[in-house]
Amino acid sequence: MKILVTGGAGFIGGNFVHYWLQNHPEDQLINLDLLTYAGNLETLKTIETLPNYQFVQGDIADRDTVFTLFEREKPDVVVNFAAESHVDRSIKDPESFLRTNVLGTMVLLEASKAYPVKRYHQISTDEVYGDLPLERKDLFFTEQTPLHTSSPYSASKASADLLVQAYHRTYGLPVTISRCSNNYGPYHFPEKLIPLMIIRALNHEKLPIYGKGDNVRDWLHVEDHCRAIEKILKEGKEGEVYNIGGHNERTNLQVVKAILKTLDRPESLISFVTDRLGHDRRYAIDPTKIEQELGWKPRYNFDTGLQQTVAWYLSNKDWWGNILTGEYREYIKETYTV
Ligand code: NAD
Ligand code: TYD
Repeated sequence: MKILVTGGAGFIGGNFVHYWLQNHPEDQLINLDLLTYAGNLETLKTIETLPNYQFVQGDIADRDTVFTLFEREKPDVVVNFAAESHVDRSIKDPESFLRTNVLGTMVLLEASKAYPVKRYHQISTDEVYGDLPLERKDLFFTEQTPLHTSSPYSASKASADLLVQAYHRTYGLPVTISRCSNNYGPYHFPEKLIPLMIIRALNHEKLPIYGKGDNVRDWLHVEDHCRAIEKILKEGKEGEVYNIGGHNERTNLQVVKAILKTLDRPESLISFVTDRLGHDRRYAIDPTKIEQELGWKPRYNFDTGLQQTVAWYLSNKDWWGNILTGEYREYIKETYTV
């Protein structure tokens, strides 16, 4: 099988490329990635010379690039991870989110229709469902929860999901969509909560928590996400949406305190800063459908997964040290005053 992965130089896509090549060495894998600030070929160093792996630098929103690639390679399966993915950046500059996340998805769908694929899989997010109230612990997102977005990021992801579903209904494109909760694990870009806090704590820097730190996220180890996508590609039903999550809800303050404890750093590093605009309160996935229909269950629990992730950042300082320059420094300077 020939599988086209987009955004494979990013956090989840990069983990997926490693996962797939390790578990499906008979397949050919092509990785199409623009290498924005979030893309990093260092993540793929150990597999880049494999004969069944090919990297192509290019923009999913560029029709010529995408159609030329499909004409040449005729992939059997497309898995679209490529996206602008950071909520804070979308609040400052929504335009690139619409271009990549919406227009880019449409170009990939057009190409998947013109050069018929066996499956087009869209990597979506639980953020398309909006948020849940903190005081209603009994509520969870199911696949039937209406889309109700808060940030330009989540609005762009929801728009992409609607397009994917429209291509299924209108043209019969064999699509699936997965909506996963917050991921954590190796190769996570240090603008996101967990890697940002690990690296700042290691450097004895202040840890900026938005608002009171009582917002809740539902954390899933990235390897569990990769296994879920594999299940959906192999056994998922065309036209269906699958929620992915492992009931690992934590407040941001709990997460940051756990990181400090693991690194033996004082809680006095915590600094409460101005809240994010439109900040979603709680995300919580009901994974019943994927568990019952596809037999998927997460293998990591949050506590051991977090220990493993902290250990990874400790033993891979070169990977993140190289990122903490240029654009990243500017972004941190603009975003935080702590
Ligand atoms: P990321 O920002 O780490 O990586 C995105 C990758 O896409 C980068 O390698 C970047 O270079 C590439 N890219 C960006 N624009 C592109 C374009 N126009 N053409 C080609 N490549 C482009 O993101 P991530 O955290 O790995 O997220 C991957 C996917 O998973 C996204 O679709 C995101 O919405 C979704 N998702 C993420 C999470 C999470 O917790 N990180 C949770 C659920 C869903
Ligand atoms: P983030 O990793 O940006 O993921 P998302 O917004 O997609 O869930 O943020 C996770 C949570 O952590 C979110 O509630 C915002 C909060 N947060 C902070 O409190 N401080 C920070 O510096 C960052 C980046 C996030």
